[in-house]
Amino acid sequence: MRILFTGGSGKAGKHSINYLLDKGHSVLNLDKVYLDHPKVSTRFADISDAGQVFDVMQSYANYSELADGTGVPSFDAVVHFAAIPRLLMTSDNECFRINTMGTYNVIDAAIKMGVPKIIFASSETTYGICFANGEVKPEYLPIDEEHPTIPEDSYAMSKVVNEATAKSFQRRSNADIYGLRINNVIEPHEYSEKFPAFMENPDLRKRNIFSYIDARDLGQMVEKCLQKNGLGFQIFNVSNNNHSVNLSSEELMKLYYEDVPLKQNDIPDSFYSNEKAKRLLGFKPMFDWNEA
Ligand SMILES: NC(=O)c1ccc[n+]([C@@H]2O[C@H](COP(=O)([O-])OP(=O)(O)OC[C@H]3O[C@@H](n4cnc5c(N)ncnc54)[C@H](O)[C@@H]3O)[C@@H](O)[C@H]2O)c1
Repeated sequence: MRILFTGGSGKAGKHSINYLLDKGHSVLNLDKVYLDHPKVSTRFADISDAGQVFDVMQSYANYSELADGTGVPSFDAVVHFAAIPRLLMTSDNECFRINTMGTYNVIDAAIKMGVPKIIFASSETTYGICFANGEVKPEYLPIDEEHPTIPEDSYAMSKVVNEATAKSFQRRSNADIYGLRINNVIEPHEYSEKFPAFMENPDLRKRNIFSYIDARDLGQMVEKCLQKNGLGFQIFNVSNNNHSVNLSSEELMKLYYEDVPLKQNDIPDSFYSNEKAKRLLGFKPMFDWNEA
């Protein structure tokens, strides 16, 4: 597939791009920052500027595409990761503006140009736990895609709005638009850097509902979304199969969630359910901190 990837220079994007290249796709990166990659060109553009987004969406990806003389090829898919990726980076309203208008512009351009598949980064923070004032507990466990999304902060609010925006765009088109409620992204080198502290102090993972997603497995998830057509608008939790701490689910329930009801009969292996991604897409996380 010929893919336009926004935010590909960032933490999550660069791993996903490598996964997509390994699978034989070609990628053009739209970002404000250069990605130093021999197989990927970066076009500098600001997603909050519709003109720039529309322009890149109908551009050549590199010099070799000039060779045929057949004009600008269209994109088969857009993967939209560019964003202010958390609170406390910009002013709250600037984070909200860039993320919501950026997503509007990217999906609007993709739909108007007939791109049939759009995948966008939403977030675990939509569930209102990660960036809450004080502790907010899940309404039930495991957290699946039906769990209420009422966050307090502008970053997570922007992601909730983006999901509504995407759902409306999907309704007026034949495109498939899949949103990924990504849990905390862990790059390979971060296992040795960060996980010893998580083992020492599981409290550090409470705001992530004790989950994580390996950056390479996130790449697999994007690829699974590219392969699966016909689902219309969908939201998927994206996480690995186990907790990011060295405690069992029973121990964690006792320590943190004694008053939280279970949605299923047995205690789940993870409190952030990836069942829907497994069931509908065949997502199968391959990496595990235990082996790192
Ligand atoms: N990292 C996580 O744990 C995590 C968890 C859940 C969701 N997400 C989401 O995944 C996506 C990627 O996150 P990340 O961790 O790689 O963040 P990142 O900051 O490393 O990457 C984001 C990229 O977007 C680009 N960008 C920002 N504003 C832009 C603009 N106006 N125009 C064009 N490009 C712009 C940045 O230059 C950067 O390269 C984001 O949408 C984020 O909200 C990340």
